[in-house]
This record gives sequence, C-alpha cells and structure tokens, in this order.
Amino acid sequence: MKDFKACFIGLGYIGLPTAIIAASKGGVDVVGVDINPGIVEATNAGHLHFIEPGMEDLLRGVIADGSLRASTVPEHADAFFIVVPTPFKGDHEPDISYVEAATRSVLPFLRPGNLFVIESTSPMGTTEKMAELIFSERPELKGNIAVAYCPERVLPGNVIHELVNNDRVIGGIDGASTDEAARFYARFVSGKLHKTNARTAEMCKLTENSSRDVQIAFANELSMICDKAGINVWELIELANRHPRVNILRPGCGVGGHCIAVDPYFITSAYPEQARIIATARSINNYKSEWTAEKVKNAILRFRIDRGRKPRVALMGLVFKPDIDDLRESPARKIAMELIGECAADAELMVVEPNITEFKGVELTDFNEAYAAADIVVFLTAHSVFRSLKADSSKVELDFCGVRS
Ligand SMILES: NC(=O)c1ccc[n+]([C@@H]2O[C@H](COP(=O)([O-])OP(=O)(O)OC[C@H]3O[C@@H](n4cnc5c(N)ncnc54)[C@H](O)[C@@H]3O)[C@@H](O)[C@H]2O)c1
Repeated sequence: MKDFKACFIGLGYIGLPTAIIAASKGGVDVVGVDINPGIVEATNAGHLHFIEPGMEDLLRGVIADGSLRASTVPEHADAFFIVVPTPFKGDHEPDISYVEAATRSVLPFLRPGNLFVIESTSPMGTTEKMAELIFSERPELKGNIAVAYCPERVLPGNVIHELVNNDRVIGGIDGASTDEAARFYARFVSGKLHKTNARTAEMCKLTENSSRDVQIAFANELSMICDKAGINVWELIELANRHPRVNILRPGCGVGGHCIAVDPYFITSAYPEQARIIATARSINNYKSEWTAEKVKNAILRFRIDRGRKPRVALMGLVFKPDIDDLRESPARKIAMELIGECAADAELMVVEPNITEFKGVELTDFNEAYAAADIVVFLTAHSVFRSLKADSSKVELDFCGVRS
C-alpha cells in the first residue's frame, strides 16, 4: 500500500501510459478508469491495447505488483486525472462533452484535500468551467480542492522516455492548485515543471500544435510549388536547411492524428478574426490530401493510356505517421478510402499497413508482396520498413512522404 492514490479517467494512448508511469516510477497506487470494458479487461490482463515500445512490459510489472488496476468506475483517491478525448464537432468547434462527463463521473468521489487535473487538450477556459461545475454541485469543496490543467506533449513511439523527461506546463485555477499539481508530477517527471495559470497552460498546448501545423503547411505548400516547378522538394529543403537559421520540416500527404490536425481548430473557432495564419495552415494541410489523391488518380489514368491496361497500385501506409498504429484523422487513410471508392474500376488496388491487422473489411497486403506486384507504388506513410524496399525502376513510385529521401 503506497501513501498516495491516483485515479486516471481515460485509458487511451495518453491516460494509460501516464497511469503506468505514475505507478511504476511515481510510487503511486493507481486505479485506471475507462468506460470501455474491453480496455479495462485487457489492461488488467497486462495487455496494452495499442502499440508503444516497452510499455506493455511496464504494464505487466505494475499489474503484477498491484500498483495499477483498471476499472469501469471511479473510486475515492487523492488525485484525479481527466485524460479523455477532446474531438471537434461538425463545424470544427471543440467538443468538451467527454471532459464534462468524466468530471461528472468523479464528482461523488471528490473529497477535501484532493487534486483534480485535466490533461485532455482543451479549449481555453475549460479548467475554469470544470471547476465551476464541481463547485456548483459540491459547494463545500470550493477552496478545499486543487484544480489544475497540465497538457501532455509526448510523441507516440517514445512515450516512456518523454513522459519522464519532457518539461511540463502546469496551470492551476489559483497558485495553491498549481503548486499541488506540480508536487504530484515531481514524483515521476525529471523534466522541468513550469508553473503558470490554467488558461495559459491550455493555450500553450494549442499553440504548440498550431505551430507544428503551420510549419508543416509551409513544407506542404513548398512540395506543391516544387511539383509544379519541376524541382525535387526533398533536395530543396535539405539545401535550404543548411542555412544556420532555417529549419523547414518535411512535407507529407497532409496532417493527421488526434492533436495537430484537431487542436488548431480550438483556436480558430474561438478567434476566427485573429487566427488567420492558423486557419490558412489548416486549409493547406487539408488540401494537400486532396492534391495527393488527384496525383494518384492522374498516374492511374496515365498508366492506362500508355500501357492499355489497369495498373496494380500499392497504397503504402494508412496510419498518420511512421511506425505507429494510430489511424485517427489520418490523411493516408482518407486518401486510401477515396481511391478505393473512386478507382476500383480503373486499377487493382492493394492496401498496405504493416502496423494494423484489420481495416474496414479491406484486405491488407504484405508490403514486400505489394511492392513486387505493383505497377504504381504510392508511399503515403514513411514507415521504416518501407525504406528497406529496393527501388525498382520499372515501377512508377509516387513518394509523398520522403521514403526515398
Ligand atoms: N495521443 C496523443 O498523442 C496525445 C498527445 C497529447 C495530448 N493528447 C490529448 O490527450 C487526450 C486523450 O487522448 P488519447 O489519445 O489518450 O485518447 P484515446 O481516445 O486514445 O483515449 C481516451 C480514452 O478515454 C475513454 N473515455 C472516454 N470517456 C470516458 C469517461 N467518461 N470515463 C472514462 N473513460 C472515458 C475512452 O474509452 C478511451 O479509451 C485528448 O484530449 C488528446 O487530444 C493526445
């Protein structure tokens, strides 16, 4: 039995690893809560329900020593962490209904002296709103619990290292809340803990991801200019980056994932007049996927005209970035779906994604087999294994993500 108990609400890509690290390195007893019974069952069986190097071993360790268990219902604890999804609604407005439902679910378990932290990426003002909700339902807790926001900035694939070593921004609804939350994270974070207020911490996360989105939009815009100008964009970027103060990112077939493709909308929907570069970056990155799909359709048409038969086309990669298994907001998936829907009569499509086993009833092909059989190879995600494919000049290669560069 440890001296501190934490309850994590949401056992997804972020909540579960944080719960595991808090239990294994923070000396904390953890109960992880998820509304999905399958996730709870898998977690209690020591099975990680997504790919993350090294994490399943840590999970097995904390399940075996009893410092982490999963449940479908919250329970009393010293601290509560909300790590549920924050998607957007139809018109790109943030949907904080999951955060609200999770907050309501812990209301009966909150006690004076508790810490309540939101980690979900949230629009500005969400932490204050949830504090108001808590205090309106449980007025006796006002001034008696700490309420704070602490965004997560880990890179999937490197989560164990980053959860411990990244700096964190922590913002409470008051100074005492900030200090209390910082004391918790100091248990397992060796990066710096930067204290601020809740609104700044919320905006900080949105700013980080919008900054990435804008920088990727610049690279994506360059890639389309270079295509028109007949210039190799990869060579161009490499040369431009030799300038000591230039650092251009790599283009891709769009921008995906649950963060960079989503969070900028939390700013643009609240500040449409002011957020002009951020909005333009979003539309460039969305357009890059449409442009990519058009390029593939044109290549199919060209092949049919030149060779008088349907090409075999290998669509290489479905997830939103290399070497993970996350399909959320993935432009590669969107492009593949569009091509499957529109080009089935014009081409034999083979879909390749080495990191998943099922995709909407579409048969997945091994990457070596697909490459060997294809007339046209379309690289949509730069998985490391694709780099091992020996280039065959008899094939048309469309490399939208730099597998060959
Ligand atoms: N995935 C990332 O790389 C990343 C990085 C930084 C921040 N974030 C943010 O962290 C938050 C969580 O993201 P994620 O990727 O872990 O999401 P996820 O979808 O992988 O996991 C969320 C989990 O919450 C559960 N859930 C939903 N409502 C619940 C409730 N009321 N009670 C208990 N469980 C509930 C879901 O069943 C799911 O398992 C989001 O706001 C996201 O934007 C994600």
